Amino acid sequence: MDKVRPSYNRISSFYDYLGDLVFKGEIMQSQIDVLNKYYGKNILILGAGSGRALNYIKIHPDSKITLVDISEGMKNEFMKQEVSSNSNVQFQLEDVFHFNHGGKYSLIIFPFFLDQFSEEFISDYLSRLSNDPLISKSDICIIDFNIPRTFRQKVIEKLMISFFKLTTGLKQTSIPDIFDAGDFVFKNRSKSIEYYYNRFIKTVIYTSAQ
Ligand SMILES: C[S@@+](CC[C@H](N)C(=O)[O-])C[C@H]1O[C@@H](n2cnc3c(N)ncnc32)[C@H](O)[C@@H]1O
Repeated sequence: MDKVRPSYNRISSFYDYLGDLVFKGEIMQSQIDVLNKYYGKNILILGAGSGRALNYIKIHPDSKITLVDISEGMKNEFMKQEVSSNSNVQFQLEDVFHFNHGGKYSLIIFPFFLDQFSEEFISDYLSRLSNDPLISKSDICIIDFNIPRTFRQKVIEKLMISFFKLTTGLKQTSIPDIFDAGDFVFKNRSKSIEYYYNRFIKTVIYTSAQ
């Protein structure tokens, strides 16, 4: 298991700002677009960060949105957001790999979370998740970086990896092929795809049959 140590605390206060600057708001926009599609549903966001995108969506009074993140710094950033006062939104300071979803969610989102791990680890984790009978009713959404193709994307990848190695203790040396693992594990589900930032950011929703 090559879990990243929980050290986003050092960068949580400027993480969103940096993301906006480099990716021109597309990190946030990709998340807003998915959340809007599931208006009124119960949503679980794993590796949620500050949850800032929630400030830009309408939240149905009957829906429940749970954010899970291991970083206290990210929780502090969440508490500064207007949305933290909404009783339909809950932040759980927990390890994703120990969180019990209880089958309560129509949608489970991994926003820029899985890229911290190796392809082997991602495949293994997603396989275990897909074998969980409680997950059969949940749509699974991965929003993350695609394998870089252009020169500019390759430069951004190198800079990002160096930055996160220094600040969070990231072990990866390149962006893993997350969607290859997702497509294989959820091959029996239908999927919808969106791209952002010249196809460097990709959203895939693997829809449950139920
Ligand atoms: C690259 S950030 C993404 C944050 C946010 N989802 C976004 O899109 O901007 C990765 C997040 O995963 C969290 N994280 C890392 N390992 C975790 C774990 N084992 N359990 C829960 N959260 C974790 C970090 O604290 C961090 O907030």
